[in-house]
Amino acid sequence: MDRTKSPKLALFALSAILVLSCVKAQSGCDSHRFANNIAFADCSALPALGSFLHWTYNEPNGTVSIAFRHPATSSSSWIAWGLNPSGPQMSGTQSLVAFTNSSGQFQAYTSPVIGYSTQLERGSLSFPVTGVAATLVNGEATIFATLELPSNLVTANQVWQMGPMSNGVPMRHLTSGDNMRSIGRIDFRSGQSSAGGGGSGDRQRKRNTHGILNAVSWGVLLPMGAMMARYMKVFTDPTWFYLHIAFQVSGYVIGVAGWATGIKLGNDSPGTSYSTHRSLGIAIFTFATLQVFALLLRPKPDHKYRFYWNVYHHTVGYTTIILSIINIFKGFDILDPEDKWRWAYIGILIFLGACVVILEPLTWFIVLRRKSRGGNTVAAPTTNKYSNGVNGTTTTGPHHQDA
Ligand code: HEM
Ligand SMILES: *[C@@H]1O[C@H](CO)[C@@H](O)[C@H](O)[C@H]1NC(C)=O
Ligand SMILES: *[C@@H]1O[C@H](CO)[C@@H](O)[C@H](O)[C@H]1NC(C)=O
Ligand SMILES: *[C@@H]1O[C@H](CO)[C@@H](O)[C@H](O)[C@H]1NC(C)=O
Repeated sequence: MDRTKSPKLALFALSAILVLSCVKAQSGCDSHRFANNIAFADCSALPALGSFLHWTYNEPNGTVSIAFRHPATSSSSWIAWGLNPSGPQMSGTQSLVAFTNSSGQFQAYTSPVIGYSTQLERGSLSFPVTGVAATLVNGEATIFATLELPSNLVTANQVWQMGPMSNGVPMRHLTSGDNMRSIGRIDFRSGQSSAGGGGSGDRQRKRNTHGILNAVSWGVLLPMGAMMARYMKVFTDPTWFYLHIAFQVSGYVIGVAGWATGIKLGNDSPGTSYSTHRSLGIAIFTFATLQVFALLLRPKPDHKYRFYWNVYHHTVGYTTIILSIINIFKGFDILDPEDKWRWAYIGILIFLGACVVILEPLTWFIVLRRKSRGGNTVAAPTTNKYSNGVNGTTTTGPHHQDA
């Protein structure tokens, strides 16, 4: 036990730092929650005019629900956001516009901007739009809408703007500074937006990193480490113990890193609706951390409570592995990677499952045979300080003798 103590302390310090840094981390889209529990999968802090775009893209039917948010909007200004199929410019923008109308209501509508002398008249856009609505609360304006995107606009130019009102008519905006830079690209499918944007430009890369770290650690290393403990014990003692510790410790370290990227992703898009994936992730992290702490409280092999500790260690361990596999598939549903990745992981699971099917009866066979010969159930009883010992508790099979 002593020999593993200092790496363990280092491990706790590392995970504590990771957890703290991801709780602290904030980006431009953070901490915004919409009323009525409306939630969006992605968010981008737009690179000009202090505005934000939140959206959820529904791939199957090609619709995207958006919220364009502009803090610091007065009741005498208009705001607008749109997509421009004709180029990175104002002219041709299929816009959503909102302002406070003569009855004092903040009202949103669609306006196809044809030229630079527009007065933002109402009109339908080149693609269908539903659910157009707007709110102005404490000086923060938001336009909501659902766009039925033609395929050429899944990746598009986005343009946004704000300007003054005069007698109920939108007037020309400033034509300098931020007001001339409020143009960017957006890829609704991959969650990437705007060159130079402070928000989600590298979001897809972060998501992939999160997926790979978690699939490798929780999905492969930890189950393999558990299998080593269970199936190598009868052949190689105490090598299995070092392998088990090596796999579980590296799995845990990588897993905590993956977990931290997940928490960070979640914080970056508040109101995101992947609550099951998130809750499972937090439960898995908690169980795994308990599992590592439990090592420090492990009774000596011949201690009478060692049997209960083993039962506890196995129960939490297997639960964590099962929850991890479930959560990895939930993650696949969210990330929606190419099918080959999902199949690659299924392939690994099938391989591990096949190992279990072969090794489980084999291990039982060896254990029972050794028992019936009156020997110990592990390979080298006299030098073995990691297993349950000669006089150990009632050994009912490979399950109940573990370090
Ligand atoms: C009251 C209605 C509007 C008027 C009269 C107006 C007028 C103009 C004019 C004259 C310019 C050219 C400035 C120059 O080249 O020096 C311009 C540029 C621009 N406008 Fe507007 N605009 C209006 C609404 C909008 C809306 C609704 C948007 C966005 C949805 C927008 C986005 C832009 C952008 C990004 C530029 C700079 C890029 C470009 O020249 O195309 N404008 N606007
Ligand atoms: C598109 O799919 C989303 C989510 O499945 C659904 O909420 C929405 O009503 C659908 N819209 C259309 C136009 O079919
Ligand atoms: C102002 O906007 C509200 C909300 O959209 C609408 O019901 C009302 O008719 C508008 N008033 C005028 C004068 O356009
Ligand atoms: C096993 O039992 C024997 C006799 O009861 C005792 O001398 C020996 O120390 C025990 N060994 C362990 C590892 O508990």
